[in-house]
Amino acid sequence: MTLDMWIRQIHRWLSIAFTAVVLGIFITLGLGQEPAYWVYLSPLFPLALLTLTGLYMFVLPYAARWRRARSIDAIDAAVTESAPGVFALGYIDHGGRFCVNHVGRSDADLKVRLRDFIGSDSLFKYGYSRSSEAAFQRECELFHDVGPPRSLVHPGRPKGTSWECPRCRIFAGRG
Ligand code: HEM
Repeated sequence: MTLDMWIRQIHRWLSIAFTAVVLGIFITLGLGQEPAYWVYLSPLFPLALLTLTGLYMFVLPYAARWRRARSIDAIDAAVTESAPGVFALGYIDHGGRFCVNHVGRSDADLKVRLRDFIGSDSLFKYGYSRSSEAAFQRECELFHDVGPPRSLVHPGRPKGTSWECPRCRIFAGRG
């Protein structure tokens, strides 16, 4: 589970705790008993945590939009040619290494494809290819050599081609 999912889960369960405590106070009052002063204050603890986790969730979509806009600016600045090519999306780890999450390619216009794919991965590397077939072969090589965790399916080849993967025989016998 990602951090965002954890925060959402925590918020959800805190809301149950908060509601239970408030209900408990009302039920106690309904039974004609006066709770201790600290009991009145007890909903403030889950409420404070709800506020923190809630504000975090509130900011998330804006932060994602901002990151995406920054990535698109970076793509526009770096990728200037309309050409086939390959790309890798990822992040820098604590040791300063670029870790690949995803690889992809474009058979015609790398910039357009990268813009569509960038998503929440803010860092990218790219390379132009001399043809769409060269891009396909480079993507296959990256897929096999790097094993990106979010590229689970073998790269496809364009319809109508009989190109083969340079690393495996996935297309063998398919014409
Ligand atoms: C006090 C400040 C609070 C803030 C700033 C806050 C903010 C938020 C935000 C931004 C979301 C996500 C909405 C979305 O999916 O786009 C959310 C979800 C939710 N909130 Fe709050 N909230 C607060 C308090 C509460 C309280 C008091 C309760 C209930 C007693 C509550 C129950 C929930 C629940 C059940 C969800 C849905 C969680 C899920 O999708 O799993 N929140 N809240």
